[in-house]
Amino acid sequence: MKKRIYYFTGTGNSLRTAVNIAERLGDTELVSMRGDAVELSAEDCDVIGFVYPVYHWTVPEHVVKFVEGLKINTTAYIFAVANPSLICGFACEKMAELMRAKGAELAYANIVNCVANYVIVYPPFPSPKFMVPRMEKKAARIAEDIANRRLKAYPKAGALTRRKMKKFMGPYLELQKYADNPFTISDACISCGLCAKVCQCKNIELKGGKPTFLHHCSNCMACVTSCPKRAIGYEISAGDRALLNASGSKTSLVKIMGLPAKRKLYRNPYVTVQDLTEDIIKIH
Ligand SMILES: Cc1cc2nc3c(=O)[nH]c(=O)nc-3n(C[C@H](O)[C@H](O)[C@H](O)COP(=O)(O)O)c2cc1C
Ligand code: SF4
Ligand code: SF4
Repeated sequence: MKKRIYYFTGTGNSLRTAVNIAERLGDTELVSMRGDAVELSAEDCDVIGFVYPVYHWTVPEHVVKFVEGLKINTTAYIFAVANPSLICGFACEKMAELMRAKGAELAYANIVNCVANYVIVYPPFPSPKFMVPRMEKKAARIAEDIANRRLKAYPKAGALTRRKMKKFMGPYLELQKYADNPFTISDACISCGLCAKVCQCKNIELKGGKPTFLHHCSNCMACVTSCPKRAIGYEISAGDRALLNASGSKTSLVKIMGLPAKRKLYRNPYVTVQDLTEDIIKIH
């Protein structure tokens, strides 16, 4: 029986959930969604999982694109686990929709609420000390469900989330257009290339020893939180602010976005920077 979990992770929460499930399942391959979906087909898998964070109340765009391009065995036991901080929104129903488009059904879907990691907007919260043990417990319960092939209908977005999606998420989505423009590289950079290796979207290349961003960033925060010299900053330029304001998203969000040098960063304590560089992790 072939078991595979596809994961996307910036700061390790989703990877840690995937590892917890794989350890309970045994003999499972964890495959990063940074790879090429066509080459990573799941047509020969009997158990297929998708584990990912929640961005802007839904499935990250990078994950949507990957799953759209992936061939799967439609008769497999298919599960999804979303890892939001507070608001999961459409992140499970969107995955169910992606499966239906392939003629498959999501047999099981669940949520692990995690430490919020969007460090270019806010410091991580709640405190990892408080939150991580809760994340571990929830992931263990989910792993048990999945190991026993239990069924669970996917959680749907509430009425309030549906009504307020446009209002609250509009500015954030607008900001995505400038996703990696505001990144800065300071003189502290030692050209080690780690940011490129951990990037979940293959969005960083070292040119003349300096990281350059290729404009398909998902703001996953892997580079920011993995740089050994804390050389990656985030400053919205006057030009980008003007563009954002002109696009009608005058919002306090645009004012607060930025990465003060002293802001706390976050990576799941069970996940190493090396783990974030892997394409495939085998769990026996
Ligand atoms: C770009 C971005 C958007 C996010 N949007 C949401 C959101 O809409 N709702 C939510 O609950 N958490 C949101 N978060 C928080 C992450 O979903 C959460 O911290 C997640 O556990 C991170 O997973 P990872 O460590 O696997 O990257 C967002 C984080 C980022 C970086
Ligand atoms: S990880 Fe940091 S120090 Fe290394 S190349 Fe990237 S920005 Fe420079
Ligand atoms: S450039 Fe940084 S934030 Fe953007 S996708 Fe790559 S690692 Fe994530």
